[in-house]
Amino acid sequence: MKYRKLGNSDLQVSALGLGCMGLSFGLGVAPDKQSSIALIRGAFEAGITFFDTAEAYGPGVNEELLGEALGLVRDQVVIATKFGFKEGKTNLGVDSRPENIRAVAEASLKRLGTDRIDLFYQHRVDPNVPIEEVAGVIQELIKEGKVKYWGLSEAGVQTIRRAHAVQPVTALQSEYSLWWREPEQEILPTLEELGIGFVPFSPLGKGFLTGAITESTQFDSSDFRNQVPRFSEENRKANQVLIDVLKAIADAKSATTAQIALAWLLAQKPWIVPIPGTTKLHRLKENIGALDIELSANDLKEIETALAQITVQGDRYPQHFQKMVNR
Ligand SMILES: NC(=O)c1ccc[n+]([C@@H]2O[C@H](COP(=O)([O-])OP(=O)(O)OC[C@H]3O[C@@H](n4cnc5c(N)ncnc54)[C@H](OP(=O)(O)O)[C@@H]3O)[C@@H](O)[C@H]2O)c1
Repeated sequence: MKYRKLGNSDLQVSALGLGCMGLSFGLGVAPDKQSSIALIRGAFEAGITFFDTAEAYGPGVNEELLGEALGLVRDQVVIATKFGFKEGKTNLGVDSRPENIRAVAEASLKRLGTDRIDLFYQHRVDPNVPIEEVAGVIQELIKEGKVKYWGLSEAGVQTIRRAHAVQPVTALQSEYSLWWREPEQEILPTLEELGIGFVPFSPLGKGFLTGAITESTQFDSSDFRNQVPRFSEENRKANQVLIDVLKAIADAKSATTAQIALAWLLAQKPWIVPIPGTTKLHRLKENIGALDIELSANDLKEIETALAQITVQGDRYPQHFQKMVNR
């Protein structure tokens, strides 16, 4: 396994983490509990030490899974979780009132079966609570030993700066991938300046960048991708051109498109740690294979040139979710 440090912090994690959301939330029918526990343990055995969850995944169920799966190896892993939705439900909107942050911290500790949260992210910025106040509560939780490091998710640069000024931020977790590159404009330069690590979520484009999803793929009715404009049948068809390009690059490197998507992210900055999600051990191992793929400056240029010819069709979020990002 290769390891990376998140920004200027001393928080070291495997260079790829495991996004655990799909084991209980968002991506259709979840696997049964025993299979999920086996997957998480399989990830640890394969060298993954960085596990991503949230109060909202389930809600609560995903944290309980991690607690049970990782109990015996707790001291060898870094567990990241998130607070900040009302009652832990993404459809009820945000809630970062100090009393809610504290209550979620206590409940998450219990569900994870641990005495500290290694990395505690605010899941979405709450416009009703100044970020300085949020940072202040986190500072107290850090002093109490209940939280080790903290982070933000989908926050805008001004919020990141204000938060960091009160209590140093260790990582930003936001969407970033070959088909969502907006963070390159303002976010990545700001993180580099401040020494904050970056954890790209949906690094495989919620599965699309692997080539396993086509216009004829049917998602379960509970699958969030049914609501995402980028995943409409029409847009999946139009965006297939991106997969064709990636496939050609992957074939030339004897790699898979999923591996190229991850290797490309890893090549952007040494303080980037993607967290691809999967429910299948063979795919997890395939994804870990990305760590052995070195993309040269020429490879990166080739990808850049190919991508420049393509306009990705469809928004990455439905409107009500779009309102909660980049605040
Ligand atoms: N902070 C936030 O707001 C936020 C938002 C979204 C996600 N996240 C975090 O980021 C993690 C990852 O994001 P994500 O799950 O949205 O998207 P992702 O990692 O880009 O893609 C996950 C999807 O890709 C499929 N997949 C994975 N590896 C594959 C491979 N090698 N070949 C073919 N298909 C493959 C998975 O299906 P199978 O299970 O069938 O393999 C799953 O449907 C989540 O688990 C969560 O922890 C955070």
